[in-house]
Amino acid sequence: MKHLLGIDELSTNDIQTIIDRAEHYAKSLENGGSYYNNILSNKIVLTLFFESSTRTLTSFDIAAKRLGADVVNWNAELSALKKDESFSDTIDTLSAMRPDAIIIRHSEYGAPEFVANRVDCPVVNAGDSWREHPSQALLDALTIIQEKGQLEGLTVAICGDVAHSRVASSNAKLLTKMGANVRFVAPAMLMPQKLPCEGIVCFEDLEEGIKGADVVMMLRIQKERMDRGSIPSDAAYFNNHGLTMERLKSAKLDAIIMHPGPMNRGVEIADEVADDPTRSMMKRQVANGIPTRMAILDLLGGG
Ligand code: NCD
Repeated sequence: MKHLLGIDELSTNDIQTIIDRAEHYAKSLENGGSYYNNILSNKIVLTLFFESSTRTLTSFDIAAKRLGADVVNWNAELSALKKDESFSDTIDTLSAMRPDAIIIRHSEYGAPEFVANRVDCPVVNAGDSWREHPSQALLDALTIIQEKGQLEGLTVAICGDVAHSRVASSNAKLLTKMGANVRFVAPAMLMPQKLPCEGIVCFEDLEEGIKGADVVMMLRIQKERMDRGSIPSDAAYFNNHGLTMERLKSAKLDAIIMHPGPMNRGVEIADEVADDPTRSMMKRQVANGIPTRMAILDLLGGG
């Protein structure tokens, strides 16, 4: 692996290798409390986030530090972009400082590829437009495997604002490749016009879409990525499409609930579902961000 730009370019073997390494790090973190190694010592990891983030930025930062790297969190707001420097000049400037890896999040489609083609180090896509968020799909896969033992044969319902979600797109591709049955569940206006891969079954009604599912993955309405005129009120959305305990009865009794965060309580998900101590995986997903991103950085830069 030279870069991690999207799920498309990963084989099932690549995915399995990353998940196996992530499982190894997850166990080390569980057993050893604060686990560190020096695989990336004397290396500089540069994070370039052009969009806001809590989970992804912090967990890449912590993951890199747990592998012994020094991390530089570049700040778009304080950069020369504010002095009208072009994106390509900014990237060339940062590349001239010779970082050992770059983690990038950007609202433009394909920005990580653009950067990968201009720099000499590995590039990791931490989310671009509504296209790809591969590290999120990998940490979600790790979470599902920890709970269900496998991906193959499971039914995973991805529900909510699927049209604007890079999490939905990367998860659908990864899960389909690994033999899961993927459903998209969304009202017509939030269903993508073009599906990210073959084999996805689409539903408009939430209860119907999660019927018999092993995993129910909820998504936030991505107001920043859509025409605000087209969004119903939060209350109307919750009434029609929010995941409540009552609606959840339609899924398997032991179905797990996932959400990449940030979540909007009372919009796509009820408090009682989000806070369910056994079935809600949200905190586990956040925790799994660290070993998964350690695995990615290790496999890209540890050699
Ligand atoms: C997501 C993102 O930024 O794509 N969050 C995340 O990375 N955990 C989902 C979102 O913004 O709703």
